[in-house]
Amino acid sequence: MFRIGGLIVFCGLLAQTPAQQQGPPGGLGPVLPSVSKPTDLAGSLTGALSNGLLSGGLLGNLRNLPLLDILNLGKNNSGGLVGGLLGRLTSQLSFLKNIIDVQIRSPHLLELGVMQSPDGHRLYVNIPLDLDLDVKTSLVTSLLKLDVKLNITAEITAVRNENGRVHLVLSDCTYAPGNIKITVLDGVGLLPVQILLDNLTKFLNIVLPVLVQGTVCPLLSNILRNLDVTLVHDIADQLIHGLQFVIKV
Ligand SMILES: *[C@@H]1O[C@H](CO)[C@@H](O)[C@H](O)[C@H]1NC(C)=O
Ligand SMILES: *[C@@H]1O[C@H](CO)[C@@H](O)[C@H](O)[C@H]1NC(C)=O
Ligand SMILES: *[C@@H]1O[C@H](CO)[C@@H](O)[C@H](O)[C@H]1NC(C)=O
Repeated sequence: MFRIGGLIVFCGLLAQTPAQQQGPPGGLGPVLPSVSKPTDLAGSLTGALSNGLLSGGLLGNLRNLPLLDILNLGKNNSGGLVGGLLGRLTSQLSFLKNIIDVQIRSPHLLELGVMQSPDGHRLYVNIPLDLDLDVKTSLVTSLLKLDVKLNITAEITAVRNENGRVHLVLSDCTYAPGNIKITVLDGVGLLPVQILLDNLTKFLNIVLPVLVQGTVCPLLSNILRNLDVTLVHDIADQLIHGLQFVIKV
């Protein structure tokens, strides 16, 4: 069941990728006097997001990403399902027949970073993730071990609802191309593996960010909805007034 669910999420993401959610419309209501000077709002926010991601099951979700299912779909070249995403890669998927299994190991959430937009109305939270892949191929008996580092960027804005209450919302949740780094820990040296590795890396560069976004972004939306009311109020107040509160290091 889970696998099927994962694939549906995956395909849903494919469908929505070109049209990401837009930020809130302008006009955030009347300007209210700013309350007390914030203490470490940015630190409280990243702490709350980190804890929320971990207690929300991020690491388990990462371990269970349906990567093998996607690989198998690619193997069969099943219709447009993966084709849409992989685009011009589809003609190079023959390497997949040499992949027997992929296991995701030791996912880690690294330290979150936060930046504020120059106009002060938005926060960009950098979410760095690290995981290992054990790839079993039909080419050699030893496992091919890869380390994957990937950053997701969450954009947070404040919105006021009809009742005048402020909320923090995830106005965007993206992965910037180039924000993935795949390194080989173990298992190269033999030529057939090297050729396979190039193609596998291209494949993972496309597929992994989509899968990771699919688990990180919904978790973040949910965490923001359930964040401590005082923290939400204090941060939203700064954002609505465009006040810089994130100390640049
Ligand atoms: C892929 O094709 C094989 C037969 O070639 C079939 O047994 C398998 O069920 C197919 N898998 C998917 C995911 O379509
Ligand atoms: C890897 O991709 C290249 C094209 O970039 C292709 O020529 C080659 O056959 C592929 N290797 C395998 C093992 O599929
Ligand atoms: C992820 O973000 C951190 C902190 O900004 C940066 O040092 C690292 O190089 C980034 N990693 C990737 C793979 O882009």
